[in-house]
Amino acid sequence: MSASLATVSYIGATILFILSLGGLSNQQTALRGNLYGMIGMTIAVLATVFGPQVTAAGLPWIIAAMLVGASIGLYAARTVQMTQMPELVALMHSMVGLAAMLVGIATFIDPTAASGFTGAAKSIHEMEIYIGILIGAITFSGSIVAFGKLSGRIGGNPLLLPGRHWMNLVGLLVVIWFGREFMNAHTIADGMTPLIVMTVIALLFGVHMVMAIGGADMPVVVSMLNSYSGWAAAATGFMLSNDLLIVIGALVGSSGAILSYIMCRAMARSFISVIAGGFGTASAAPKPAGGAAQPAGEVIPVNATETAELLREAKSVIIVPGYGMAVAQAQHTVYEITKFLREKGVNVRFGIHPVAGRMPGHMNVLLAEAKVPYDIVFEMDELNDDFPTTDVAIVIGANDIVNPGAQDDPASPIAGMPVLEVWKAKTSIVMKRSMASGYAGVDNPLFYKENNRMLFGDAKKMLDEVLTVLKA
Ligand code: TAP
Repeated sequence: MSASLATVSYIGATILFILSLGGLSNQQTALRGNLYGMIGMTIAVLATVFGPQVTAAGLPWIIAAMLVGASIGLYAARTVQMTQMPELVALMHSMVGLAAMLVGIATFIDPTAASGFTGAAKSIHEMEIYIGILIGAITFSGSIVAFGKLSGRIGGNPLLLPGRHWMNLVGLLVVIWFGREFMNAHTIADGMTPLIVMTVIALLFGVHMVMAIGGADMPVVVSMLNSYSGWAAAATGFMLSNDLLIVIGALVGSSGAILSYIMCRAMARSFISVIAGGFGTASAAPKPAGGAAQPAGEVIPVNATETAELLREAKSVIIVPGYGMAVAQAQHTVYEITKFLREKGVNVRFGIHPVAGRMPGHMNVLLAEAKVPYDIVFEMDELNDDFPTTDVAIVIGANDIVNPGAQDDPASPIAGMPVLEVWKAKTSIVMKRSMASGYAGVDNPLFYKENNRMLFGDAKKMLDEVLTVLKA
């Protein structure tokens, strides 16, 4: 493929990626957005593989690597459960970080890579390598820890080392110092020591950064690592002099940064404080019952028949899905019940919290899969004022996102996080298997409210029973 055709293909792919991001901002256009992304990626890969930068000798290696990668990707896409998606995304971010690290090291030790650079251009090239490996290493180790936390292999409690902010600061200064050493090195051997020291510090920083973040703040970390993976890709683009990779990396990096901002706003957190870690400190253990601000009292359990009765008598219902709906795969039954109630003239709506589930848009994806119409799915802000005029609010496998303690208890690890105010409905029904706490590890005073009912059991099983009673 000629250089000009490759450039035109890159421009086409870039436009498709921008259209893809635009499409993904809305549920109705998300499918089209995905399609644009897939076409754009196919063009980008073909233009790169058959482009002027690849020699005939390298082609078999690339094709073999692509076959291995595609097989793993296909296998993962077929076998990974919806509930494992966030972990998979974290793993993929770690791959981008690893790639940036390896490309950086390979570029540095390749004597031909820097041969065309002299003076300022050489310094810029070296800086690209240093920063690229730095971002890559942080993204790699941070994403691996995020994978561990999201999959439950590592506990959600924040690891708060004494003097952690000082440790981070010293690490940063050492990285800057060795950056200077690296730039001043005359040979590859001289540059290797600063590079290795910086890589080790960056890897440790990535681990420390994510380990220090409390359970409830993980959404920000997920979107932040998404952003980092974009910047790591852009850094790789600079090292390889690949314009498309730079543009795509910048698109992913900036959209991830915007998502992190939205997540922070949704959780009433400042971005810097989340990165510095320590939020969710008290989430180490659920608070004991009793005490002034502590939840206390009895819960009122109901069964499927009583739940069906409450729904039958309701004129308006708001359904709040959470992580448990994903675990139980209850979305199809939820929609069956929704259809039934709507046919009987009940106003049924869904309330989606921005951090419900374990990844941005988690609930929207599940509801779309079950074919729930988009016009009855609302963001938290759009219907939080409607709970006082709602007869029944059903909470399906959600916990932290409906915790009134976020508003009432300033000592709560999730204090200040906006929540869906289900307790303001005439009756709220919480479906979950036990009294266990949610991801943030905080007890939930909602369960003890007078107008709240608990329907204990697996969400899918209980909803099946409710549907059977409703239809009987
Ligand atoms: P959680 O607070 O984690 O609560 C989910 C509840 O579902 C649990 O209390 C669990 O109780 C219940 N559950 C689990 N399996 C169930 C099943 N089969 N049937 C019925 N119930 C089941 O979830 P949430 O309310 O959606 O809040 C999300 C939390 O995750 C927030 O703390 C958020 O910060 C965090 N987080 C979010 C993200 C993103 S980006 N969305 C990423 C990482 C972390 P039982 O065990 O008693 O059943």
